[in-house]
Amino acid sequence: MSDMLVKLYELPDDSGLIARLEGEGIRIRRAMTPDKFRVVPWVQEHAGLSAAGEGDVSFSNKPASCFIATLDADIIGYACYDATCINFFGPTLVKDAYQGKGIGKALLIRSLRGMLDKGYAYAIIGGVGPASFYKHCVGAMPIPGSTPGIYADYLGRRG
Ligand SMILES: CC(C)(COP(=O)(O)OP(=O)(O)OC[C@H]1O[C@@H](n2cnc3c(N)ncnc32)[C@H](O)[C@@H]1OP(=O)(O)O)[C@@H](O)C(=O)NCCC(=O)NCCS
Repeated sequence: MSDMLVKLYELPDDSGLIARLEGEGIRIRRAMTPDKFRVVPWVQEHAGLSAAGEGDVSFSNKPASCFIATLDADIIGYACYDATCINFFGPTLVKDAYQGKGIGKALLIRSLRGMLDKGYAYAIIGGVGPASFYKHCVGAMPIPGSTPGIYADYLGRRG
């Protein structure tokens, strides 16, 4: 579980992906404050209490540093950044039934673009699970010696 570095100035074009998802009724958009009490409980249910804490903090930023994927009125995925640490992407999750459609990639690129617009040149993906997903989608590279990194100790780390 190491951290990874992403060049924000070389992000892939996601316009075709976003258009395809929209054609399937799936919308990727920045969350707004009125979404907070729908998004954070969803994150707690699907990703757990620690991720819910990070999601909650993302709504303290203006604009909220959280993107959501919706199908009609349902949340089917989310991603946040500037939550546990500034300049960190994550956490993110796509509901099991909707994985493999490009939603995780779209949420990732939209969030990283938000970070670029904020003024960052690089982003750090904190405590990565699927490293090959991040390498494949945005050319992320592991940061040597970053395990366990900032996540060395927090309540709930061991379950
Ligand atoms: C990781 C996760 C967000 C990916 O979302 P997803 O919607 O299933 O992924 P996508 O459909 O957008 O995949 C985009 C591309 O990455 C590839 N990919 C997806 N998951 C991958 C993985 N674990 N390893 C390598 N490649 C992966 C896909 O094949 C696809 O490739 P393509 O663009 O060539 O077609 C999702 O699997 C998830 O929610 N996992 C559980 C929570 C988690 O691990 N979060 C990350 C914590 S750091």
